[in-house]
Amino acid sequence: MSSTATRVLVTRAVPDDTLELLRVGLPGVEIDVNRKSRPLTPRELIERGRGCPAILCTLADRMDCEVFAALAPDLKVAAQFAVGFNNIDLDAAAAHKVVVTNTPGVLTEATAEVAVGLILACARRVVEGDAITRAGRFEGWAPMFHLGASVHGKTVGIVGAGRIGRRVAEIMHDGFRCEIVYTSRSEHADWERVLSARRLPLRRLLEISDFVSVHCPLTPQTRHLIDATALSRMQPTACLINTARGPVVDEAALLDALYSGRIGGAGLDVYEREPDLTPGLAQAPNTVLLPHVGSATREARDAMGRLCAGAIIDVMRGRTPPNVVTDR
Ligand code: GLV
Repeated sequence: MSSTATRVLVTRAVPDDTLELLRVGLPGVEIDVNRKSRPLTPRELIERGRGCPAILCTLADRMDCEVFAALAPDLKVAAQFAVGFNNIDLDAAAAHKVVVTNTPGVLTEATAEVAVGLILACARRVVEGDAITRAGRFEGWAPMFHLGASVHGKTVGIVGAGRIGRRVAEIMHDGFRCEIVYTSRSEHADWERVLSARRLPLRRLLEISDFVSVHCPLTPQTRHLIDATALSRMQPTACLINTARGPVVDEAALLDALYSGRIGGAGLDVYEREPDLTPGLAQAPNTVLLPHVGSATREARDAMGRLCAGAIIDVMRGRTPPNVVTDR
């Protein structure tokens, strides 16, 4: 970087609107965008982030104590282009007085749509049906051909009662008359009132749900929350849906459960070691696999970018953004 202008690092290509907001909101500031089709390595992040007061980062950037220590004291804000922030060491950020923000609310609908899509795709074997049709193996309608399971009236277990879990519960309750059960650290009176939902211990939720949909953040407490024991509690016809974070599910245990028929299927948008899949997962029976696209709508990504740009501009002008991450 030859320029001596103040520089904001944007670690991946984002919507043009986001960059325009930054340019207009921070006149004279250089906006340095990583245009590579891969995330920066931790070393590149440190080298390129040096001297920047602001970084727009993504969930693929490891914002750990080494990075914060190297970028302090210039770095003032890390604006995460995601709602989840398990890649950011909040203690290290706080120790170096870096404000961390995220993008809550604006991707709720998009991610809930993907979770519901995975439920439907698993139940009705959509991907398999598509493959059969394209391969010319559709030999005509038959009473016993390609049967799936109905979604209507089934029990949906929501693991994690945040915004996205709540929206999935609403869609499944209102649209498919499903019974909703959920886990949460606290009772949600509105879930009970509006959705007739019951809060259950995870163990019981797993036993009675036809679809288990994971919506909790990844924390040390939720890593491998869905492990071999949890999977063994599910019904053999039940499907596991994960649109939250991969490591919440023990992927090796999931593989065993799928191959042994211990559970009925899985719909995944996230993986334990993204973008790599545990060997065997791509061939596993009754699975629908998406490439982490929960928030990947133009609308959601534009809104995420606006929140990030707004947060960076706020901090650089001495204001507190509304979307500061405070705790887990
Ligand atoms: C996407 O996975 C997000 O956390 O926003």
